[in-house]
Amino acid sequence: MVGRGRFITFEGIDGAGKSSQIEAAVTHLRRLGHPVVHTREPGGTAIGERLRDLLLHQPMHLETEAMLMFAARREHLETLILPALARGEWVVSDRFTDATYAYQVGGRGLDRCRFEVLERWVHAGFQPDLTLLFDIEPAIAAERLAGAGSAPDRFEREQVDFFARVRKAYLERAGEAGGRIRVIDASAPVAVIRERVMAAVDLR
Ligand code: TMP
Repeated sequence: MVGRGRFITFEGIDGAGKSSQIEAAVTHLRRLGHPVVHTREPGGTAIGERLRDLLLHQPMHLETEAMLMFAARREHLETLILPALARGEWVVSDRFTDATYAYQVGGRGLDRCRFEVLERWVHAGFQPDLTLLFDIEPAIAAERLAGAGSAPDRFEREQVDFFARVRKAYLERAGEAGGRIRVIDASAPVAVIRERVMAAVDLR
């Protein structure tokens, strides 16, 4: 019987610079010989990517947004994450449920109790083995986003105070997560961050 693979997630406010670090982590894990599935939320499946397009670009009620995040997650778990882990593969996801607590509860101000119900429904007893939280001042992240040159989506158009609430919620969740969430200083030089990420994902 193959061992269960590992589930690693990357989190942080928009503009924290996690994308290129995820690429490096995936390459590193593959070099170590692990079969790795690289995926993202919202998204990662055909239905999830269609929901992502709506979530990032279509104005909607905040509770619709919250429930679509979990609908996409249910599909993602069932058709991609859990089967890959069962085959002994590693799954690296750009965001998972911590993002919902940070953005929908922290940023949007929705009631946390509702999310605890949804979380239990969608993945009772299941959490990432490791989460790397890229932490950065919202003002610095905003400068990076502005410099990226691409048209901002519904979330990226939010103001600095929204991202300050998202960041606070992430850090609070990190404090409650009993070591699962490692905070990475995303304002450090890129090469330093890369070393820290590689050391962290090398789970045995
Ligand atoms: P990304 O651009 O980092 O891939 O993330 C897409 C956006 O979706 C990002 O602004 C954060 C947001 N998001 C939520 O608001 N809640 C969630 O549960 C997830 C997974 C993402």
